[in-house]
Amino acid sequence: MSDDFTEVRILDNFYQTSSFFPMPVVLISTLNESGSTNLGPYSLCFPYIVTGGRKHAMVLITRPTSNTAQNITRTKVCSINFIPDKKKYLKNCVLLGYPGETTEQKMKNSIFTLRPSTRSGPPPQGLSKYPDIVSEAFQVFECTWDDSHPLKPTPSSDASHLVLVIEKIIMKPKWKDCLFKGKGFPRLPVDYGYRDNIQFWFSKHSKPYALKVPSSKEAPIEAVQYACSRFDPEIKWEKEACAKIVKVPNIFLKRVIGGVVKAAKEEGLTVITPEFMDKVQDKRSGEKK
Ligand SMILES: Cc1cc2nc3c(=O)[nH]c(=O)nc-3n(C[C@H](O)[C@H](O)[C@H](O)COP(=O)(O)O)c2cc1C
Repeated sequence: MSDDFTEVRILDNFYQTSSFFPMPVVLISTLNESGSTNLGPYSLCFPYIVTGGRKHAMVLITRPTSNTAQNITRTKVCSINFIPDKKKYLKNCVLLGYPGETTEQKMKNSIFTLRPSTRSGPPPQGLSKYPDIVSEAFQVFECTWDDSHPLKPTPSSDASHLVLVIEKIIMKPKWKDCLFKGKGFPRLPVDYGYRDNIQFWFSKHSKPYALKVPSSKEAPIEAVQYACSRFDPEIKWEKEACAKIVKVPNIFLKRVIGGVVKAAKEEGLTVITPEFMDKVQDKRSGEKK
């Protein structure tokens, strides 16, 4: 077969019909009108607001008539349940993904175990609880819909785009431990994108492997010291502290220095030491103690 590229006509649902596109598989739990938890399988669910401090959010793309879309726009709350890669779970997801069934009809076929949400505080007005979460999940994002974002970002779109603000991330202790150690990973299912009228395709999880972030060119220590000392005259930097950030790419240096200075001021420090740099650079140092 030729090694040249050949064009593929772009059809609707292009990620399934005209390409191969790896996606997650999640079960979204919502509350129906009588307060029962509904599970809907979704792949078009990605990080949307990822930096900036105040709020972090996912975006979910769904047909507006799904139970999930209707429930979220009515109650504003949902949970995104990340299930491990087991064939029996994915088989059940495909069953729960059959369109047009009510919560009562579909949940009779669910093999997943529901347990109460871990959110504290009273649920939104009119609800007796938050949606249940899936016991088999290895992590869950408990979310609230941000209705200030348009449901249809373009007039030609017939799907709903729901921005789901992450209120809480919960994880099984085993995986939280791995996250902190940077070692060991849950088995994640991958929806392979390609789909015909008969079948979904999933790819099996294989062991993740690590590739090092390219090491950036070191800036001369004098240049970093100069940038640090100029940033805020009230804060002094020890040379060894500056040495900790010589590998930061130049375009990020000001932001990194700003972050360290902010953290120092919050702690009432006027001198930045290498020990303080270690503490700031390990974002979870407080939690690990
Ligand atoms: C693995 C899988 C992934 C799916 N991903 C999506 C998706 O991202 N968006 C969507 O609108 N439908 C998706 N579907 C189809 C929905 O699951 C289907 O519309 C289902 O009826 C939704 O359930 P609900 O009505 O209870 O929300 C997916 C189905 C499966 C099996």
